[in-house]
Amino acid sequence: MTLRITNETLPKFESDLEAQAYEKIRKEAFDYIARGAGDEATMQENLSAFDKWKIRPRVLRDVSKRDLTTSLFGTTQKTPILLAPIGVQRIAHPNGELASAGAAKSLGVPFVISSVSSYSMDEIAEASGNNTRWFQLYCSPENSVTESLVKRAEQNGYSAIVITVDTPQLGIRKSDHSNNYSPLAEGNGCGNYLSDAAFCGLLEKSPSEDMEAALIKQSELMDRHTLDWDILSEIRSYTKLPILLKGILHPEDAQLALEYGVDGIVVSNHGGRQLDHCISSLDALPDICQVVNGRIPVLLDSGIRSGVDVFKAIALGADAVLLGRPYIYGLAVDGEAGAKRIIENILHELEVSMTLAGVRSLSEINAGLLIKP
Ligand SMILES: Cc1cc2nc3c(=O)[nH]c(=O)nc-3n(C[C@H](O)[C@H](O)[C@H](O)COP(=O)(O)O)c2cc1C
Repeated sequence: MTLRITNETLPKFESDLEAQAYEKIRKEAFDYIARGAGDEATMQENLSAFDKWKIRPRVLRDVSKRDLTTSLFGTTQKTPILLAPIGVQRIAHPNGELASAGAAKSLGVPFVISSVSSYSMDEIAEASGNNTRWFQLYCSPENSVTESLVKRAEQNGYSAIVITVDTPQLGIRKSDHSNNYSPLAEGNGCGNYLSDAAFCGLLEKSPSEDMEAALIKQSELMDRHTLDWDILSEIRSYTKLPILLKGILHPEDAQLALEYGVDGIVVSNHGGRQLDHCISSLDALPDICQVVNGRIPVLLDSGIRSGVDVFKAIALGADAVLLGRPYIYGLAVDGEAGAKRIIENILHELEVSMTLAGVRSLSEINAGLLIKP
């Protein structure tokens, strides 16, 4: 009998795509990607929040042309979708972020790369060519390493820094505990660190001499308990690039972000991987947009699964969205081609949804087109 799973052990999949990815990769890797924190209440809420809103379409509006462009930090983007920063992508496919960068480039979709990418930011920049790329920063207690990462990103053509602020420590991810699994400890998230002179300067021996010590040092740098708003002026002193904060859910933090001169906000709960039972990103969005009032871009992630979801997020005030797990499942199933297919499908669905809802541009997608029955 070669069946890998029985009906009793088959997990409940969110989609066929997720089930296909399950068949392609190690169970521990799949669980790391697909599962969430605690009871996974927030992870589920991220999806059901989208279902509660229904589109109220308009008709007879000559929708022969649709414009999906959006402007972010003075640059026109072809679509309102970016690829979310997802670390350790080699656990989904050997080509990891290089394949994702290729998919993003072929569609002109900006790629936000993670601090804990499997490949280095230099290698990913090369795979990205001229495509827009941003760098997601996990600040570390060693300012020299943070400074070095930010400056390398700027030198490598990354055009924004996205500081993730919802991760003073990891959430309680039960499946990773029971699998006793850490992709970082396995060396799948060290592309940017092992290639970094400031990081290597902290080591007694070079990574090639003592890889274990290097990985332990990297995990020590993941401790972000002491991080506060003062870090922003520090990071400002390293770069002229726009700075976004990822992981804002409370309108008072959006207000503080404005006061501290942040250039953009990503409303996110990290895909339900951090604080369980916290508000879904979509439910958090309207209050944050009200505070921001168009002064800086507001992006959203956590729960985007379709073009219709993109439509709803924009209607509730997002300027753009970050696509997360779905492109990683595509990557797991078929590498660069798989990730590309998933992004393409979502873009196609967004365009068809706009046509059928009677809108010609993103600016025409507004809250009047949505209703919670
Ligand atoms: C496997 C995995 C790894 C992630 N790694 C990072 C990371 O390194 N940095 C970060 O800011 N967010 C990370 N995230 C969160 C994503 O950027 C994004 O917020 C989340 O995937 C959105 O939820 P969704 O994929 O369910 O839509 C990760 C998410 C997953 C699933």
